[in-house]
Amino acid sequence: EQNKRESLYIVTNFALDFFKDQLHETEDGQAIGLSYFKERQFETDIIKKFDLGYAPGKNIFTKTAEEKGYKDEYLLETGLIKQNDRGKYDGFRERVIFPIHDLSGRPVGFGARTLRSDPKVPKYINSPESDIYKKNRILYGIFQAKHSIIKNDLCFLVEGYTDVISLHQAGIENAVASSGTALTEGQIKLIKRYTQNVTILYDGDPAGIKASFRGIDLILQEGMNVKVVLLPEGDDPDSYAKNYGKEKTLDYVGQNQTDFITFKTNVLLKDVENDPLKKSQAIRDIVNSIAQVPDHISRAVFIQECSSKLDVPEKAIIAETNKIRRNQFNQQRRE
Ligand code: CTP
Ligand code: MN
Ligand code: MN
Ligand code: MN
Ligand code: MN
Repeated sequence: EQNKRESLYIVTNFALDFFKDQLHETEDGQAIGLSYFKERQFETDIIKKFDLGYAPGKNIFTKTAEEKGYKDEYLLETGLIKQNDRGKYDGFRERVIFPIHDLSGRPVGFGARTLRSDPKVPKYINSPESDIYKKNRILYGIFQAKHSIIKNDLCFLVEGYTDVISLHQAGIENAVASSGTALTEGQIKLIKRYTQNVTILYDGDPAGIKASFRGIDLILQEGMNVKVVLLPEGDDPDSYAKNYGKEKTLDYVGQNQTDFITFKTNVLLKDVENDPLKKSQAIRDIVNSIAQVPDHISRAVFIQECSSKLDVPEKAIIAETNKIRRNQFNQQRRE
């Protein structure tokens, strides 16, 4: 309902201003939050552009919000305040804040990073879904990135908040992150409003590789073009852009981006070149991705590439592709 949504926006706007004010205008905010961002080499203009903030703890947010008359109902729904049997408390405490904006720049949720390196403490806490924050419909950074996505006719898909920010600071502004959720179809459709071309730039670790496999299929299903870049192990786009800057980052991307067939082949057949079982599993995995492509001419092109790259007869791949598509079709009808 419209009124409720407006009330939620009022609350998230207040929170945004509060967290920014804490970061820039309070002693703790400056000493703890701002120095953390400076340590990570975030520049002042980028801190402002992304509305970064600081959540102080000691329930200062809860007290301030209630003093100012904001309603508990909305503060609770947005996760800014939480409640247990001992009462209400701040949803984000002693964390730096990454606001999540919708397409028109309104804050709808927050990602909050701990400043500790205690593995028992979750690194990020994210706002829950609410009537204004549907995670399936939001990508972190899309508001700041959309013009550049259109201009470059390309969107970089990264894993995290800091990846978006560091790339942006380096001058690569067309980057968004799924941030705190597994990538969804709705998020890919959001990118599709601006471009058909996505380059996945995930962390160079096993989790990043696994997530990129999921991303590939979602992008292919939308009939979009996908490339994948594997960063050196231990790097993410944040660290890479910080260490090497714009030109070298774009060079690396240019030299290392591959289509999904090559990427999957490289990953799945690494060290197992001559193992026939591994090879057939890899082919199955790749064919499964090819089967996601809606356009049959594009499918034919991929089938040909897969056939020559892995040295399997086209006929076999075509048969398997058709089988997968038939099964998926039948399953969709049953649902
Ligand atoms: N993430 C999350 N909750 C966690 C860990 C990660 O929501 N407990 C999400 C965040 O959006 C994060 C992204 O997954 O930005 C990628 O995670 P990770 O690579 O671990 O963090 P970085 O973004 O690299 O953050 P940092 O550089 O600050 O360590
Ligand atoms: Mn990671
Ligand atoms: Mn669909
Ligand atoms: Mn990372
Ligand atoms: Mn990182």
